[in-house]
Amino acid sequence: MDKTWWKESVVYQIYPRSYQDSNGDGIGDLKGITKRLPYLQWLGVDVIWLSPIFQSPNDDNGYDISDYQNIMTEFGTMEDFDELLEEAHKLGLKIMLDLVVNHSSDEHRWFMESRSSKDNPYRDYYIWREGKEGKEPNNWGGSFGGSAWQYDEVTNMYYLHTFSKKQPDLNWDNPVLRNEVFSMMTWWLDKGVDGFRMDVINMISKDTTFPDGNKEGRLYGDFTPYVMNGPHVHAYLQEMNEKVLSKYDVMTVGETPAVSVEDAKKYAGFHTNELNMVFQFEHMCVDEGRYGKWSRKPLDLVELKRIFTKWQTGLDGIGWNSLYWNNHDQPRIVSRWGNDKEYRVKSAKMLGTCLHMLQGTPYIYQGEEIGMTNVDFTSIHQYKDIESLNQYDDFVNKIGMDKEEAFARIKRSSRDNARTPMQWDSSQYAGFSTVDTWIEVNPNYVDINVENQINDETSILHFYRNLIAFRKANEIVVYGTYEPLFEENETIFAYKRTLGEEVMYVLCNFTDKEVKLPSFEYEENKKDLAIHNDTAWEKGMLRPYEARVYLVK
Ligand code: GLC
Ligand code: CA
Repeated sequence: MDKTWWKESVVYQIYPRSYQDSNGDGIGDLKGITKRLPYLQWLGVDVIWLSPIFQSPNDDNGYDISDYQNIMTEFGTMEDFDELLEEAHKLGLKIMLDLVVNHSSDEHRWFMESRSSKDNPYRDYYIWREGKEGKEPNNWGGSFGGSAWQYDEVTNMYYLHTFSKKQPDLNWDNPVLRNEVFSMMTWWLDKGVDGFRMDVINMISKDTTFPDGNKEGRLYGDFTPYVMNGPHVHAYLQEMNEKVLSKYDVMTVGETPAVSVEDAKKYAGFHTNELNMVFQFEHMCVDEGRYGKWSRKPLDLVELKRIFTKWQTGLDGIGWNSLYWNNHDQPRIVSRWGNDKEYRVKSAKMLGTCLHMLQGTPYIYQGEEIGMTNVDFTSIHQYKDIESLNQYDDFVNKIGMDKEEAFARIKRSSRDNARTPMQWDSSQYAGFSTVDTWIEVNPNYVDINVENQINDETSILHFYRNLIAFRKANEIVVYGTYEPLFEENETIFAYKRTLGEEVMYVLCNFTDKEVKLPSFEYEENKKDLAIHNDTAWEKGMLRPYEARVYLVK
């Protein structure tokens, strides 16, 4: 396998709104991030992925962009960005921007032009259709509730928005729009940014016959088969690669919901000239129930392992994957598949070990490195996320669900679980700000914060730092092949990595019980223990949430 820096890197995701406020308005900003760069260098990460920092009316916290070449007023200025980029580079850190080009904001100049008349030059930058018998062109629902079509009275037509109605979908079938996006990307790359995370990039090519979607058990039709991995998506990404990406040594990661391993081989194949890696969701959907992510089943570990194994072996030598448990759209992993009570520290370390020793590029989402948990909000008014608020409204007002039940569903899965401010220290507002914050700080910041953990070598933070250092010191972590162990075992996630003469065994107990380790080809020997999250060690047994990595040379 070719050696490349983006395979060897660890990415750290920042949600700028919630990272560090520098000017006392309760909202994180670019200067705040610059101030924290030395912390990230100390942690050892290589690439910082910034969630969108561009001008936006913030219907979806920056994922609705009204000017791709200006900085969101609340986050600062272009000078602040230039300073952030320069300081990051001085410290050896790379900056990856969030490219949100499946849609823009309805307040983008392009859209205001587009909506103004049918023959405006920008009309075809977006997807306009006539209604059908006075109704929407088809039955698709938007990802944030309601129809995916919005009627616009100016021209008596509908525009498509696969997310909120303030996020109209861009029309990638229009070559003028594509070139516009490519020149905007070039502008940022010439400024020196080190790559792009591409928001829902596998949705840019739609089936333009716009068939109705399956409505079974849902309020609206499902657009997935007609929007995800559409007819020209690979052609458009290859064009982007040829015209833009191939000219720079940068990192690209495609957020790609609903992709198979076969799809990923094209998006992120070593020789397909599209993207470096995918960021896919199959493992994140394993505990979904009847209402998708709003209904959670207990984790089926055998199924989770089956999914990871499929991806690990399917892409080996062919393409590249991202490894993650968290991002700004997921509840906190320690609350989800770990234990955020008595075993918080241990289970967070176990989860980190399990993920970082797999093949792929690991992503750490802000706060994961200190074991931040879901937030215990008690009222729907404490939530800010458009998706959570719309979903609550659908549950209560359209489905007629009991309010308490609806609230419990939101609480468990809301994206706001990941969006409470970063917990830096135990001062009021957690060192994030000095005033009331845009979303409330999780009150557990008093115990769970960076300052406490930096001073404690046994902390989750130091453990993550060691995981990163271990990756840097051992090529097997990056380039070794993967083989599952004990596939049918319901409590232990175990696998083997091999590179040349070297072998690595990873053993993780996903439960709060002590479990017996099946015997296997390797006889445990404490001298081979390279990573361990426990103080005690007993051959053949794993204590609650215990994780062991043996490196056998
Ligand atoms: C992606 C982002 C999510 C956003 C959506 C629409 O899934 O991760 O936060 O709401 O796209 O841009
Ligand atoms: Ca601020």
